[in-house]
Amino acid sequence: MSARTKGPRIVALLNQKGGVGKTTTTVNLGAGLAAAGLRTLLVDMDPQSNLSLHFGVEADDGRPTTSSLFADPPAKAADCVVKGRDNLSFIPADTELALVEGELAGRDGVQGVLRDALATLADRFDVILLDCPPGLGVLSVNALTAAHEVFVPMQAQYLALRGLEKLLSTVQLVAAGLNPSLSATGVILCMHETQSSHGKAVVEEIRTHLDQFRGTDVPWRDCRVLQPPIRRNIKLAEAPSFGKTIFDYDPKCPGADDYRRLAEGVIAMWRARGVLPPAAPVPAAAG
Ligand SMILES: Nc1ncnc2c1ncn2[C@@H]1O[C@H](COP(=O)(O)OP(=O)(O)OP(=O)(O)O)[C@@H](O)[C@H]1O
Ligand SMILES: [Mg+2]
Repeated sequence: MSARTKGPRIVALLNQKGGVGKTTTTVNLGAGLAAAGLRTLLVDMDPQSNLSLHFGVEADDGRPTTSSLFADPPAKAADCVVKGRDNLSFIPADTELALVEGELAGRDGVQGVLRDALATLADRFDVILLDCPPGLGVLSVNALTAAHEVFVPMQAQYLALRGLEKLLSTVQLVAAGLNPSLSATGVILCMHETQSSHGKAVVEEIRTHLDQFRGTDVPWRDCRVLQPPIRRNIKLAEAPSFGKTIFDYDPKCPGADDYRRLAEGVIAMWRARGVLPPAAPVPAAAG
């Protein structure tokens, strides 16, 4: 077993484009992993604090947040963790986090702050999902420095491939310097229109693009389009305004079904690769 099986599996949910489904996926994939028995932590890395709102937590209410991890002196990560549901905790964000993106960007060692903070929580979680802000600034670079792997939520739309290429080149830059074991392993299609012929063509284009790199040494050589695509489902857009995950809000809707199956697929993928934490549960039988 490799050393990477020790401690939680850390995943950055990253796309520099706004509004593609990063937060919705962090919350609901995370809730699906928690329901499967994995002790899951979600970290809100976005000054917009949308992830925190999914749990009914208002930003700027004085509690320690992700920005407290970047303060001088920093807060203890354990003091920032809020329990959301069984097996599902989160670290909220607030607007102060925008200062990290702006004022602290040039500070020595700032890229490793999140990695070092999360290391102190290693015994408490099996999985940590990092909800990145749109953009590729110092907060996203912190997430890439802390993560083992990157999932890219995106839409199968015009110019999608160009954005993906840019993102993968950022992953490569971080992998070449700050975090040599980083890899991009999954594209997650969000708000997917299953009947759209344009969408089908773009998905095929993404697959063909990724297939070219199998067996090379780029950090996305094993990247796949994860299954299933997450269909467009209004329930997913409604749930956060009630401070609920999709499984609390409507556990039988298509959105819940898609995220449940995505979580099962991710667990199976990790198990096949031998990177699931040793204490993690056996996934439900496929079928
Ligand atoms: N599968 C879906 N079906 C319907 N609406 C969705 C779906 N996924 C996400 N949405 C909605 O689309 C909007 C953008 O999603 P989300 O906030 O997850 O994107 P994001 O990438 O985190 O955005 P940002 O870059 O601003 O952080 C939200 O209003 C969300 O509720
Ligand atoms: Mg978001």
